[in-house]
Amino acid sequence: METTLVLIKPGGVARNLIGEITRRIELRGLEVVGLKLMQAPRSTVEEHYAEHVGKPFYQGVCDYLTSGPVVAMAVRGTNAVKAVRAMMGATNPIEAAPGTVRGDLALSIEDNLTHSSSDAEAAERELKLWFPEGLPR
Ligand code: CMP
Repeated sequence: METTLVLIKPGGVARNLIGEITRRIELRGLEVVGLKLMQAPRSTVEEHYAEHVGKPFYQGVCDYLTSGPVVAMAVRGTNAVKAVRAMMGATNPIEAAPGTVRGDLALSIEDNLTHSSSDAEAAERELKLWFPEGLPR
């Protein structure tokens, strides 16, 4: 069993895609074990994207993720990290396969609707950051 982090970014919330994205995750057989709609503090977002410090898009993604409410979701199941990444599709929606969230619902890399943890270590770090109160076992 693995638990991974999914963020629905401000564009996804604004487009009323919370239900559609969550529906796909649940239909796959994964369990939502943590869920919150929140205005993310800048400090949380900067720490979340720490690996991208210095890259040309770093400030822009931090601005974007704090521009409106986001949904933070903890998703659990067998191979949840890889399963969720595959369901979301390639980071750039133009390269994302049809049938994926981005391949079906997004067009631009700046607004690619979701973030999901890249591997088990990232998932552990990101879940602690977004769910500091902890998650059910
Ligand atoms: P995410 O999975 O949240 O991780 C970093 C985000 O930066 C990425 O999704 C994109 O939304 C955003 N981004 C913007 N420009 C780029 C880029 N050139 N390469 C990678 N990510 C980018």
